[in-house]
Amino acid sequence: MDRFRIEGGRRLRGTVRISGAKNAALPAMTAALLTAEPVHLHNIPRVRDISTMGRLLAHMNARVETAEPRPTDLTITAEKISGAGAPYELVRTMRASILTLGPLIARLGAARVSLPGGCAIGARPVNLHVKALAQMGAEITTEHGYVEARAPHGRLRGAHIVFEKITVTGTENILMAATMADGETRLDNAAREPEVTDLVNLLIKMGARIEGAGTSCLRIDGVERLHGATHTVIPDRIEAGTFLIAGAITGGELVLNGCAPGHLTAVLAKLRETGVEISAEGADCLQVRAAKKLVAADVTTEEYPAFATDMQAQFMALATQAQGTSVITETIFENRFMHASEMVRMGAHISIDGRQAIVRGPATLEGTGVLASDLRASASLVLAGLVARGETFIDRVYHIDRGYENIEEKLSAVGASIERLRPAQT
Ligand code: EPZ
Repeated sequence: MDRFRIEGGRRLRGTVRISGAKNAALPAMTAALLTAEPVHLHNIPRVRDISTMGRLLAHMNARVETAEPRPTDLTITAEKISGAGAPYELVRTMRASILTLGPLIARLGAARVSLPGGCAIGARPVNLHVKALAQMGAEITTEHGYVEARAPHGRLRGAHIVFEKITVTGTENILMAATMADGETRLDNAAREPEVTDLVNLLIKMGARIEGAGTSCLRIDGVERLHGATHTVIPDRIEAGTFLIAGAITGGELVLNGCAPGHLTAVLAKLRETGVEISAEGADCLQVRAAKKLVAADVTTEEYPAFATDMQAQFMALATQAQGTSVITETIFENRFMHASEMVRMGAHISIDGRQAIVRGPATLEGTGVLASDLRASASLVLAGLVARGETFIDRVYHIDRGYENIEEKLSAVGASIERLRPAQT
């Protein structure tokens, strides 16, 4: 398994190009299952979850083509698809495979998808996806680890669904299922994440009739069929946030190109509260300068537009360097503090009390061997390693490869000392 070796203490300076959003690209890829015509997607990040999704769609007989020499362009043609479903071997490595459920049942009237298990950050059930499909008339059984859904007359029917809890992929799945249902579907308490809105925009280009984009009430008027479309996926706000912290934590200065500052409002406000200087340099560009004095700030993760759970671990790395006590409250996932114990091993002062982490700073971090437990935890350990004294070795970086495109190359290009060690070298 690959590891990272990071030599801490370098100030980062330069320009970083932000990639397309993994969590927008994944539903966009499954949306292609809704039509027999080609769907052309631009700004697709080259990360492992995307290639896993490509394999999954190919398993369902869709043609997934990368446009060399532009590997960030993908064309997916799902001319004749099989509903045999998402096998566990693929699903277990990527929970987003559940996003095939809605499109498959909309297109074929039936779907069989392996249930994703829990993961390092929590149990992560899909009961709300299943319940909403049942309200739309699907007959659903969950047996032997698979969810099987069938629309009695080949089509789902529109329904009024009130999500008990805000769910991002749940909203995306039901949105896709509703595009070709009979009649109108109304989704209340829908997720408002920019990735959901990006999917709405793609579906509208494909001929779907959807109102309420960006709000918590989405109304979908089912149509007979959808057609092909061309779409550019939004920039990755979590990658951008991670690089903002990389600039700030190393006492450096970075320019981020190709980002969407409007999707980062809560993160920018929180970073400014700690003293980090951030300025917008045009519509898709941000500049970050380290704080003159970095001070503690409390953070509570919540659904968009509040502070994203996917930025919590990275913010914790920054908090270890801030003057004072930061209280970090995680409200979305029940077990998303695995990185804290690794940071403590590096010398951070963090105590966990249920859903709260109390971080006392500043602490001098020392490089050591640490273990990445999930995607964003890995990113936070990279950030801690960038500021630690001496060498940090991060194991299980396959987690980071799931969602960050060439992170070590992007960091090296702005002055970090980070290298990937392949098994033969470790
Ligand atoms: C999406 O996961 C993202 N994944 C996650 O990003 C992100 O952390 C999360 O949204 C929250 O923003 C993708 O977009 C592919 P949820 P998702 O359904 O949709 C509970 C990353 O690092 N819940 O919004 O799976 C659930 O357990 C990843 O890129 C139910 O109880 O998250 C959680 O506590 C990690 N029943 C809460 O709702 C359900 O049926 C929110 O989960 C569904 C969810």
